[in-house]
Amino acid sequence: MAGLRSLLVCIVVVAATIVIPTSAQLSASFYNRVCPKALPAIRSVVKQAIFQEPRIGASLLRLHFHDCFVNGCDGSILLDDTSSFTGEKTAFPNANSVRGFDVIDDIKNAVDKACKGSVVSCADILAVAARDSVFLLAGPLYQVQLGRRDARTASLNDANRNLPPPVFSFSQLLSNFQAHGLDLTDLVVLSAAHTIGLARCGTFRARIYNDTNIDPNFAASARKNCPSSGGNDNTEPLDATTRRFDTVYFKSLLQKRGLLHSDQELYKNNGTDSDKLVLKYSRNPFAFARDFSASMIKMGSIKPLTGNDGEVRLNCRKIN
Ligand code: HEM
Ligand SMILES: *[C@@H]1O[C@H](CO)[C@@H](O)[C@H](O)[C@H]1NC(C)=O
Ligand SMILES: *[C@@H]1O[C@H](CO)[C@@H](O)[C@H](O)[C@H]1NC(C)=O
Repeated sequence: MAGLRSLLVCIVVVAATIVIPTSAQLSASFYNRVCPKALPAIRSVVKQAIFQEPRIGASLLRLHFHDCFVNGCDGSILLDDTSSFTGEKTAFPNANSVRGFDVIDDIKNAVDKACKGSVVSCADILAVAARDSVFLLAGPLYQVQLGRRDARTASLNDANRNLPPPVFSFSQLLSNFQAHGLDLTDLVVLSAAHTIGLARCGTFRARIYNDTNIDPNFAASARKNCPSSGGNDNTEPLDATTRRFDTVYFKSLLQKRGLLHSDQELYKNNGTDSDKLVLKYSRNPFAFARDFSASMIKMGSIKPLTGNDGEVRLNCRKIN
């Protein structure tokens, strides 16, 4: 009986595979049969890396975002420059800014060892590392969708064109997110990723010296570590609890204490839909946890390569 059932299940699975071999669907169970040890192996390296340096959790979360916003979640951000293309690492939003590439290499080595071969894509590693970072820093735990494959190219120009800069206005931020199939709620909850991590002085100088929608005490304090010229790489916490994935980011926006101009654009206290969302999440951690999870899954599903498209890279820094 059990034998017959598993035979039937096998037939159904094989038939489904034949009918839709290159379906663009991701699935939470993608590695369950081929390598059940994959996800625990990733979690363990991320945990060790965060133990060594809590900020790395923020950096890994940002890597996944910067991967997904440039031609989809395809691991393109991890590729080094080659003679045939200039990759994304030196694009303006990434240069001297994105970090965590060594941790991704460590994860890839660990996961290939656990799986006895290269079956887990670098794009999926980014998605899982981001999810685990949020969870390990006291944020929500969601079921990450899997089955992305890795790009065989990357583009500096596409990174410059697609990643939103911190000087963007509210309407520019919203258009940028809409161009990626995301909406206002996604913009507001995903921006709250800035509840962890740091920013460099060069990215918020204009805000703390010239913006009017800012708490003067907050601006004065941030100026101490960010002179009006020089000190571009001095860092400042993006919110007051940068090692904890909480709702302090939203509470800060209510007090005009957003560090980036783009953060404060989401809350101007004049009754916009964006204002209402910021207020709601500042008061309701459960709504934030739920909606952040949903928006991460949505962002993680931007134009994945699936089926026979792309490849599973042996080394996340170069194509096979
Ligand atoms: C809404 C538009 C966004 C803009 C304009 C923006 C801009 C920035 C900037 C300028 C920094 C500081 C970088 C540096 O100083 O080197 C930063 C850091 C960060 N961003 Fe965003 N970001 C946005 C959305 C997001 C999203 C959607 C996520 C993830 C879901 C994210 C995650 C992070 C994290 C975690 C950090 C800290 C990284 C670290 O400490 O290494 N950001 N962002
Ligand atoms: C602030 O604005 C003034 C006048 O537009 C400009 O000259 C100055 O460079 C700005 N400062 C910063 C730090 O952006
Ligand atoms: C809210 O305030 C900003 C400037 O602080 C302004 O650009 C925007 O038009 C205002 N929106 C409404 C609905 O009043």
